[in-house]
Amino acid sequence: MVLTRREMLGTMAAACTAALMPGLGRAQTAPLTKPIPSSGEDIPIVGLGSWITFNVGDDDVARDARTEIMRAFFEDGGRMIDSSPMYGSAQPVIGHALEKLGYPNQLFSADKVWTSEPGDGPAQIEESRAHWGVDNFDLLQVHNLLAWQEHLDMLFAMKDAGKLRYVGITTSHGRRHPEFEQIMQKHDLDFVQATYNMADRDVEERILPLAKEKGIAVIANRPFRRKELIYRFEGKDLPAWASEIDADSWAQFLLKFVISHPAITCAIPATTRVDHVRENLASASGPLPDARLRKRMADYIETV
Ligand SMILES: NC(=O)c1ccc[n+]([C@@H]2O[C@H](COP(=O)([O-])OP(=O)(O)OC[C@H]3O[C@@H](n4cnc5c(N)ncnc54)[C@H](OP(=O)(O)O)[C@@H]3O)[C@@H](O)[C@H]2O)c1
Repeated sequence: MVLTRREMLGTMAAACTAALMPGLGRAQTAPLTKPIPSSGEDIPIVGLGSWITFNVGDDDVARDARTEIMRAFFEDGGRMIDSSPMYGSAQPVIGHALEKLGYPNQLFSADKVWTSEPGDGPAQIEESRAHWGVDNFDLLQVHNLLAWQEHLDMLFAMKDAGKLRYVGITTSHGRRHPEFEQIMQKHDLDFVQATYNMADRDVEERILPLAKEKGIAVIANRPFRRKELIYRFEGKDLPAWASEIDADSWAQFLLKFVISHPAITCAIPATTRVDHVRENLASASGPLPDARLRKRMADYIETV
């Protein structure tokens, strides 16, 4: 059985984000949201990553093309954009787009601190903030657990001082999961970010149940395994029953699997294309698979 849209809305508040962005809004269905457990704030279940895709340097044409991706993202109800000082020019490119778009007030800014020198953390965050052109970040995450103890102390102090709303940690590619779990156990994190997609499901064993138990929001990175999964299924038929969850493409099939896990708060696919950002947001506005259909999806891809 598939959860109908009405049933989904029973457990998740629908976002009214299009209405929050007068001037840019267009008629469309708002994406489903899930609450951030530590605050109850609702966040759309599909966000936008920026690794590689937004690292386009000073090229005006490429920068404006990324602006159009962000315009489409906000128009279709998106909120969370994820970046890092590790992502080359991605932060200034996001800042360029935000300025052109008039700093849409539904933006949920998620960035990271990424330096092995704990003393450099505050200056790096200040530089990132200036690149984005925001007053403060919504979420700051310790990227790949680099100098995590010291950076976490600093981030919690920023939160206490009202300069940051949420604190998190990240990993990817299944790295350092035991240490990741220990940090989740010991610290009052608002968010964790880790790799979760139909081919990388390690987090289902311990990290997702622990996040659920501790009330920590989870961001799924690499939902397409950096396009590898798209290439794997390209040209292959979707099952007829994909229509039950309004999955019109493999991208939507893959994304709906990720965002329907009860412990996943949102996924952050990256893209260089306006049609893809709209397709990804649309994955968040139809019915999502329940546990039985999720199993069927996982079984099906083994046969393709
Ligand atoms: N340790 C960490 O903190 C960490 C590590 C890894 C990633 N991340 C974050 O997670 C984000 C996402 O991960 P990722 O960038 O590695 O990979 P991803 O989102 O799994 O895959 C990105 C690729 O998917 C393609 N794509 C996106 N939407 C598509 C669609 N609808 N149809 C077909 N292809 C589509 C894009 O190509 P097109 O350009 O052709 O659309 C792009 O090449 C990153 O950008 C970053 O923000 C964080």
